[in-house]
Amino acid sequence: MQILDTVIRNARVVTAADIFTCDIGIRDGQIVSLATDLPTGLKEIDAAGRHVTPGGVDSHVHLDQPTGDGSVMADDFYSGTVSAACGGTTTVIPFASQQKGESLRAAVEDYHRRVGDKPVIDYAFHLIVTDPTPDVLQRELPALIAEGYTSFKIYMTYDALKLGDREILETLSVARREGAMVMLHAENSDCIAWLTERLLAAGLDAPRYHATSRPMLVEREATHRAIALAELVDVPILIVHVSGRDAVEQIRWAQSKGLKVYAETCPQYLFLTAASLGCDDSFEGAKCICSPPPRDPANQQVIWDGLENGSFEVFSSDHAPFRYEGHDGKKAHGESPTFEQVANGIPGIETRMALLWSEGVRKGRITPQSFVALTSTNAAKMYGLYPRKGSVAIGADADLVIWNEGEPVRITNEMLHHNVDYTPYEGMQLSAWPAITLARGEVVWDGEPRGAAGRGKFLPCQKPAPAQTRRRPHELPL
Ligand code: URP
Ligand code: ZN
Ligand code: ZN
Repeated sequence: MQILDTVIRNARVVTAADIFTCDIGIRDGQIVSLATDLPTGLKEIDAAGRHVTPGGVDSHVHLDQPTGDGSVMADDFYSGTVSAACGGTTTVIPFASQQKGESLRAAVEDYHRRVGDKPVIDYAFHLIVTDPTPDVLQRELPALIAEGYTSFKIYMTYDALKLGDREILETLSVARREGAMVMLHAENSDCIAWLTERLLAAGLDAPRYHATSRPMLVEREATHRAIALAELVDVPILIVHVSGRDAVEQIRWAQSKGLKVYAETCPQYLFLTAASLGCDDSFEGAKCICSPPPRDPANQQVIWDGLENGSFEVFSSDHAPFRYEGHDGKKAHGESPTFEQVANGIPGIETRMALLWSEGVRKGRITPQSFVALTSTNAAKMYGLYPRKGSVAIGADADLVIWNEGEPVRITNEMLHHNVDYTPYEGMQLSAWPAITLARGEVVWDGEPRGAAGRGKFLPCQKPAPAQTRRRPHELPL
C-alpha cells in the first residue's frame, strides 16, 4: 500500500446516514481508506473522542456581487472563502448574476475574473437569470448548463432582478428540458411596493419597518405561486431562505401532493426575530435587514420543526456581506437612510455550521446525521456535486471538519474572518466550533486560517438528480 499523506486517527465519523469510529486515510486530496489501525501516514491527526463531519457545502452565498445601488459586498473570493473555511465550510456556491440587458455568458465571465486567484476552498456557481430573452433561453442557458452551471436562481421581487410569471414559466421550462435546479426567491413584489409606499408616506422608515413591509403572507403568496408555476411546467424547484410557518405550510402541502418542491432555510430564521431589526427607530437594526425578514419565536420553532421533520433539504447561510459603518454598505444612502434604501442581507458564512451543531445537535433538536444532511450532503446532491462533495466516503474529496465540543465559545465579530464589521450573532454563547477544517486533505483552519489564496478550484456541476422531472406523461407541449 502506498504511504498515506494524512491519517486522522479514531475519528467519530458522522455521515448523513451513520456514525462510526475509524481512521481516515487521505492521499492526493481524497479519502482512500476508512478502517481501523491504518499504517502511519506522513501526517497524523489525533481525533480521538471528536466528531468528524464532511466539510460544509454552503450553497447560498453572495461574494463580490455587484448590487447596482451604491453598496458594495465586503467579501470577495478571498475573505469570503477564508471565513467559510474557518467556520468549517469547504465548498461554496455563490451566484453569477446577469444584469438586465446583459448576456448570461458575460456575467459568468465577469465572475470568473472576480474569482481570479483568490479562493482558498472549492467553489461552483449558480446563475441568476434576470433577463430571459429568447437568446438567453434558447442558446446561452442550455450551453451554460451543459458546461456545469446546472442551477439558477429566479427572483420574484426586487425591480433589478425580478421576473414576471410569464418569464418564470419560460425559464422553468428550460430548466425542465435541460435538467437544471431552479432556486426561487419567493416574495410578492407588488405587495411589498404597496406597503413600502404607505409606510414611507406615514414617516415609518426606520429599519424595523422593513419587517412590516414584508409580512409572511407576502412570502406565502409568492411561495404558493412559485409552486403552482412549477407544477404547471412539471419541474422540481427549491424555495430559498424560507422564514416561517406560512411558507412552510405551502411547501409541505406541495410535498404532500407528491410535487418535487425542496426548501432551504438559514440561521437568521432560527436565531433572529423581527425584534432584531430594532424596537425603536435606531438605525442599528439595519444590521439584521434581510429578505424575507426574520419573524418571531413561534416561527423560529416552525423552522426548527421543519429541519427535524424533513421539510427542509438545505441549511445555507445566505451570506450577503455589507459593512455597517462607512458609506459603501448598510449606509450607502447616508447615515440614516429609510429601510428601503438599506442593502438587504446579513453575514453568516463562518457561523452557520457552529450555530447548527451547537444549538441543534448538542441541544438535542436534530441528530448529528441530520446536521450533516442539512449542511453538506443534501446541498451537494441538490446542485450536482455529490459524491465528490458532501460525504465521508472512499473516493470523496477529503473535505472534513474535526469538531471541538463542550468548551464555551462566545461569538464576537473579532474572532471572525469575514470583512464585515459586525455579526448579527454578537455575544451568543455556543458550545462547539470547528477545531480543524481540511479541504482536499489540506488543513485550512486549525485555530488559524491556513489556506493559500488560489488553492480553491472551480467545480463544474453535474445535472442534479433531484432536478429531474417526475417524467409523468404530460399533456402540454413543453
Ligand atoms: O436579504 C437577502 N437575503 N439578501 C441576499 C439576496 C437574496 O435575496 O438572497
Ligand atoms: Zn433571495
Ligand atoms: Zn441570497
